[in-house]
Amino acid sequence: MRILVVDDEEMKRISLEEDLKGRGYEVVSCPDGESALARLREGPFHVVVADLKMPGVSGLDLLKEVKGGLQPQAEVILITAYGSIPLAVEAMRHGAYDFLTKPFNNERLFPIIERIEKQLCRERNKGKQDVCGKSEDVSDLLVGSSLAMQRVRELVEICAASEANVLICGETGVGKDLAASVIHKLGSRRAHPFVKVSCAVFPRELVSSELYGHEKGAFTGADGPRRGRFELAQGGTIYLDDVDDIPLEEQVKLLRVIEEGVFERVGGTTPVKADVRIIASTKEDLRLKIAEGSFREDLYYRLNVMRIDIPPLRERKEDISLLVRRFLEEIAGTWKVEMDPEVPEILHSHDWPGNVRELRNALRRAYLTGRGVVRAEGLLEEGPAPAAKGTGGGLRETLNRVERDLLQDALRKAGGNKTAAARLLGMKPSTFRDKLKRYGLA
Ligand SMILES: Nc1ncnc2c1ncn2[C@@H]1O[C@H](COP(=O)(O)OP(=O)(O)OP(=O)(O)O)[C@@H](O)[C@H]1O
Ligand SMILES: [Mg+2]
Repeated sequence: MRILVVDDEEMKRISLEEDLKGRGYEVVSCPDGESALARLREGPFHVVVADLKMPGVSGLDLLKEVKGGLQPQAEVILITAYGSIPLAVEAMRHGAYDFLTKPFNNERLFPIIERIEKQLCRERNKGKQDVCGKSEDVSDLLVGSSLAMQRVRELVEICAASEANVLICGETGVGKDLAASVIHKLGSRRAHPFVKVSCAVFPRELVSSELYGHEKGAFTGADGPRRGRFELAQGGTIYLDDVDDIPLEEQVKLLRVIEEGVFERVGGTTPVKADVRIIASTKEDLRLKIAEGSFREDLYYRLNVMRIDIPPLRERKEDISLLVRRFLEEIAGTWKVEMDPEVPEILHSHDWPGNVRELRNALRRAYLTGRGVVRAEGLLEEGPAPAAKGTGGGLRETLNRVERDLLQDALRKAGGNKTAAARLLGMKPSTFRDKLKRYGLA
């Protein structure tokens, strides 16, 4: 691999050059942006490592030249002072591969370079596979004709072509899981695992062992060694669903894994390399969580390199007709499904608080209860009232039964996410958790 090192600080530049050469890379080093541009015009590089702040042509200018046409295939890593992280994030949006904050030792750069090396290998192999493999069309996977959905698809494709971390934001049921899996499916890691971690469902004391695994005897009940999700996702993608539910003390560990690309199992000391791409999702406004002190700002910057906001369905009702067609195909295959003439109007005037998931469920239920015909009547009703299922008992028992059913139902709709389920019922998450315990559902 050919690496170009650009730094105006001589000591740093020389030490980096020496260290990289020591690891077998071919290295060219330049003291400023101007001479770097000249070297880039002379021949191809795989990686450019540049200081963001340099007099004259800055690291950002260099990045724009490289990605804008000089050598768009080259990956650019920027080195930045802590205070200029927002600028570095801006640089990531212009196509930088990663950034490192000063002060840093050269060791932190190596895992990043190794990741690029692996990616290059994968791309070479991918070229071979593509000859026989069929490529999937993103508009078949993420259905919708609205401008908003077109933008989402565009971003999904951009993310799939890069290795940068992605943050997907949106209400429950808008398609965050789906978008994450499509990014993986279309990307260069598709032959490797896609591992979903629902951060909201783990008790806080188990988060570490879930993510990083544990050694035998690490804690009571750890009868044998176990691989964590990061190890299971090796070479592929890890999807951290509801990332804001990761407790603060775990956020520090996650940050370290992202920055250094290594972790240790709980109770272990051997560092394990994490060659894993991270996609995270949230229903919350993480900026507010940062202001509240429940989410680390540095972790936010690391995750929010690329960002996809999926708007709620009520803001893109043009998508409803294509989605209906897709879901009815899923339910009935090529069988032509009949529907009452007022159905489209009902679907378009509803607000869809549960978004695309709610639409899909409503159609399924209507198809089943209408015995193959989507009826207008009861289309948006939630099946039989839970109380009707009860038999006998006093008022208290009946109310308890109804409440238990509602909790269970909300939990199912929210895919096991307690915070989301609480929100569906308009309940505080803490109240919701208490009730789950009371009914033995936790
Ligand atoms: N654009 C779309 N095209 C096709 N299917 C979609 C689309 N958006 C969502 N869906 C479907 O809607 C359902 C809900 O989507 P998904 O589970 O991805 O939502 P989510 O945003 O992760 O929700 P939550 O925050 O509750 O976990 C899934 O069955 C998904 O396949
Ligand atoms: Mg989800």
